[in-house]
Amino acid sequence: MRKFNTEGPVVARDHYCIPPLERLNLPSVLELIGDKRYFVLHAPRQTGKTSALLALRDLLNSGAEGDFRCVYVNVETAQAVREDVRRAMRVILGELASRARSAGDEFLYDAWPDILATFGDGALAEALTRWCEHTAAPIVLLIDEIDTLIGDTLIAVLRQLRARHDRRPESFPQSVVLCGVRDVRDYRIRSSAENTAIAGGSAFNVRAESLRLGDFTEPEVRALLEQHTRETGQPFTPEALETVWRQTLGQPWLVNALCRRICFDDARGRDRSRAIRADDVYQAQEHLILSRQVHLDQLADKLQEDRVRRVVEPLLSGASEDESSTRDLEYVRDLGLIARGDPPHLRGDRAA
Ligand SMILES: Nc1ncnc2c1ncn2[C@@H]1O[C@H](COP(=O)(O)OP(=O)(O)O)[C@@H](O)[C@H]1O
Ligand SMILES: [Mg+2]
Repeated sequence: MRKFNTEGPVVARDHYCIPPLERLNLPSVLELIGDKRYFVLHAPRQTGKTSALLALRDLLNSGAEGDFRCVYVNVETAQAVREDVRRAMRVILGELASRARSAGDEFLYDAWPDILATFGDGALAEALTRWCEHTAAPIVLLIDEIDTLIGDTLIAVLRQLRARHDRRPESFPQSVVLCGVRDVRDYRIRSSAENTAIAGGSAFNVRAESLRLGDFTEPEVRALLEQHTRETGQPFTPEALETVWRQTLGQPWLVNALCRRICFDDARGRDRSRAIRADDVYQAQEHLILSRQVHLDQLADKLQEDRVRRVVEPLLSGASEDESSTRDLEYVRDLGLIARGDPPHLRGDRAA
């Protein structure tokens, strides 16, 4: 039996889902990869980035789009070592080698400890070079959670990708996708080693393009809920469907979290002969707020930041005074705290 998923990437076998590749602009993604471009995919937390990357990896490895070796790596584990570049290299290479090995490619797994010992802080670039030279198919690297890295560690990774970009595809990855909440161009990275702030765009000036993953459209929300109805026979009233859309505007986690609460966690909703109504949706919404779901809590936490407060405060109070900058607004929009159009008090003032 499939369910609504609220924990991590979707798996079609276990979860109701919109095919993740349909959420990407797949033709342009494939074109970028075919053209050997390095690019960014970004969206707020819990939008479906990881689900899309994993599906892209499987597509590229299937051979249907040509001969590629695609590996996904999540660099979040290197967050804990902060600006210790050497330890970050160890963590990232270990993670990458393990992912490649699980996909049946042992080369990196055997080679990386020696490369780290010899190349130290620069080991990532050298490991990628050796791996590409050893592998017949062009390598496509999908790096997830790139913006969990900070300071010198993030700079080291970006610069190493940039420095050997000219050696692709024979001696460096054909294509690299950096995935995170923000566009790399918008990072301001504080380097402790150089005691200065570095713009992400300059550390990674080989970035060709940035793609933004959007929320579900209304037809996608309906299609997702429809899967539940088809598999269990339990209908949603038209008002309930309308309410799910209006209250979520298609934010993927929110849609799933509401419906999971209504149809699986709430005793009444588990009676499949009973149609889901609009008031069930409102009750589930209250429950999500009061139970302080992690995702909502994390967003609420961001309100402590000054640059977030500068944008959100006038929005809530209706004040016409506004001290936020366009940078602040972009940041808050990237976090997914406000809609992508202009907030009402700024409408007309600033271009979106
Ligand atoms: N294709 C999809 N179909 C249905 N729900 C999805 C889909 N992609 C993401 N979601 C919802 O978003 C949540 C987060 O997905 P994930 O891929 O981990 O996002 P991200 O990497 O952006 O944080 C999932 O647990 C699920 O609730
Ligand atoms: Mg993710």
